[in-house]
Amino acid sequence: MAKLDKRSWAEPYKMKMVELLKMTTKAQRAKALKEAGFNTFLLHSDDVYIDLLTDSGTNAMSDDQWSAFMTGDEAYAGSKSFYKMEKAVKEYYGYKYIIPTHQGRAAENILSQILIKKGDIVPGNMYFTTTRLHQELAGGKFEDIIIDEAHDASNEFPFKGNVDLGKLESLVKKHGAAKIPYVCIATNVNMAGGQPISMENLKALRKYTHKHGIRIIHDMTRVAENAYFIQQREKGYEKAKIKDIVKEICSLTDGATMSAKKDALVNIGGFLATNEWDVFEEARNLVVVYEGLHTYGGLAGRDMEAIAVGIKESVNDFHQRARVGQVEYLGMKMEQYGIPIVKPIGGHGVFVDAKAFLPHLTQDQFPAQTLAAEIYLDSGVRTMERGVVSAGRKPNGENYYPKLELVRFTIPRRVYTQAHMDVIAESVAMVYDKRKKIKGLKMVYEPKYLRFFQAKFERLK
Ligand code: F0G
Repeated sequence: MAKLDKRSWAEPYKMKMVELLKMTTKAQRAKALKEAGFNTFLLHSDDVYIDLLTDSGTNAMSDDQWSAFMTGDEAYAGSKSFYKMEKAVKEYYGYKYIIPTHQGRAAENILSQILIKKGDIVPGNMYFTTTRLHQELAGGKFEDIIIDEAHDASNEFPFKGNVDLGKLESLVKKHGAAKIPYVCIATNVNMAGGQPISMENLKALRKYTHKHGIRIIHDMTRVAENAYFIQQREKGYEKAKIKDIVKEICSLTDGATMSAKKDALVNIGGFLATNEWDVFEEARNLVVVYEGLHTYGGLAGRDMEAIAVGIKESVNDFHQRARVGQVEYLGMKMEQYGIPIVKPIGGHGVFVDAKAFLPHLTQDQFPAQTLAAEIYLDSGVRTMERGVVSAGRKPNGENYYPKLELVRFTIPRRVYTQAHMDVIAESVAMVYDKRKKIKGLKMVYEPKYLRFFQAKFERLK
């Protein structure tokens, strides 16, 4: 009899169509990397073998989503497809009013303009690049209230997305609750390495914010992945369905911004949701300035159809088990090779600790940017920097120096196989073997906003 202590997951789908990949030589990659200024964002995807730049908009849609695509109603106003999407958001997330947007940051822009006044404080469980920029552009100041454990790559606390209520309390004492329009809560905190917030912590935060009349705005980009971790790790939720956990999370918040390009399994789309009529009314008005009418908000009818189906598929227990299971498989494989990674392994990707990988480089020599470039050169695997380049500059021009200096191996949903994961881990192991010889980078071009997207670098001599 076979002795098994755990049964494997496998993908709850099979392939119907494939996309062929181009294989490149090391000389071709060296040329492409130089031309891209050692920034993986500036590579042509044609020069990439396995693309782990992001899990955003890179999902494989299901046959149900593609069929729904064909039924898209492209009416300018009052499209049937909008009402389907609205119904799905209400059914699976429970928010009262929704406004479609072309992607997450568009919802962030509109919401920030409505809720934030100059001089306001916006606490959040770690920053996200676009979210914080919109808060700042609206005149607010972001304050990080995530627990300290989240800034320590090797700390294995199971809910590194949790809020430190003590940090929030000091902000309320210092500035007064009236200066805090909302607390921004991301589910499965991207910049911490795809780490969840617990239901217990969210409930405590709800209690505290109610007492002080402060809203909770939910960055629900990866809410179903967070729900999966709650199901796996939090007492009392072992038997709960992801679908119900997702709804409970949303019920503890007052509104949301969503990039449907992640959890909701589409290639483009997002929305702004709120339970407050006044906020909705203003957003419905503002969206026509930036996006389009409030029943399409920058999306085609077919996109809204695909989102409606994707939301439903995203809260399926088997889907999440395989999705997060694949990420975990890659992380465990890297650990076997001794690669320093953020622990626990996250929901949407494996985050390699570049400070520990390249300890001879200072943060000003961009260790994570360097490592992402070296991995691409080795194998054509494209990853992304999440460190000092992504963190950017403060409104006063000084660099932010985040504690976490990471390379993100982001796994698109339903796209790659376990064999791809093996090849990726082996490439990282190869680079790890020669890590001592790796030299850092210097920045030779820096754009004003969100510099990581377009900055250029050269190798240090
Ligand atoms: N919030 C979080 C937590 C995100 O991860 C993203 C996007 C956004 C908001 C903005 O959404 O891209 O639709 O405008 N993250 C992508 C990434 C870009 O690669 O992590 P968007």
